[in-house]
Amino acid sequence: MKKNLILDVDTGVDDAFAILFAARHPEINLLGITCVDGNTNLENVIANTLKTLDAAGAGDIPVARGATRPLIDEPRYAEFVHGSDGLLDMGIPPSKRVLDPRPAVELIRDLIEGAAGPVTLIPLAPLTNIALFLRAFPDTAAKLERIVLMGGSASAGNATATAEFNIWHDPEAAAIVFSSGIPITMYGLDVFTRLQLTHDHGTELKSREHECSQFSGELIQRFVKQFTALADQSEITLGDYGAVATAIAPHLVTMERYRVVVDTTFGPNRGQTVCDRRTFADSAQDSIHSNAPSVDVVMDLDVDAITEMWMRTITQ
Ligand code: RIB
Ligand code: CA
Repeated sequence: MKKNLILDVDTGVDDAFAILFAARHPEINLLGITCVDGNTNLENVIANTLKTLDAAGAGDIPVARGATRPLIDEPRYAEFVHGSDGLLDMGIPPSKRVLDPRPAVELIRDLIEGAAGPVTLIPLAPLTNIALFLRAFPDTAAKLERIVLMGGSASAGNATATAEFNIWHDPEAAAIVFSSGIPITMYGLDVFTRLQLTHDHGTELKSREHECSQFSGELIQRFVKQFTALADQSEITLGDYGAVATAIAPHLVTMERYRVVVDTTFGPNRGQTVCDRRTFADSAQDSIHSNAPSVDVVMDLDVDAITEMWMRTITQ
């Protein structure tokens, strides 16, 4: 049976890698996509998401408008990584696809209520839309099979020394999602950069005829150029795609179960996902972590199999 997925995105180059895969994989039923500000502003995110669906050759998948900013903080974008339009300024004309008229939280509700089987929600972005959905429609949210999110870290951060970008962008939203009681898989920075591509992958994809391969190849080569300029680094990551791979092929990853607290204080660790990795925790002395939700955290993965699954799905 196909797996029912809903994506929440801030497209973003690696969100695009994830969307291309989810729209094309034969065992995925992509019910819809909701957009939120994050890597870039919401208008860019929407435009990039629709263009990516065009490149994927996707059918009529509903795409909805979500939050324009975090719950409390001001938005802080990552355009220095993803380009001024969030998709490396490829010069692709706007899509002719029409945005779904429903707000993101209503689209998520309707897709879950109308689905024939269980639904997995995959946030690849700051968790603002998901927190608003949980607060607006808790009974529908309780029907979710699982949330598999890209975000957080059990080790180092990227936006700050300890916080990953998606959680750091809206820590209050993340705290709401992590404490929701819904089963959560966290695909974070511990594995995020392990799925690597080079300029040669782009060349291979551009040698193929169809639009999805051409688009992907160009995006990869532009991202390699960007990272070479930014960090003298010639490999780029498939990033957010790994969370989608985890949702449909959990046998290809290794998870550890940790109690996780999202730091919502305004100190240097704001936005950190503090994972309790102690083998023995004296719960009497640690009321914070002993009452925190247990989360399945991806700590290792089959790099070759997951990378090959993406290349195969893009080119077939
Ligand atoms: O921190 C990783 C996140 O930022 C991902 O969601 C990705 O889109 C990147 O830009
Ligand atoms: Ca993202």
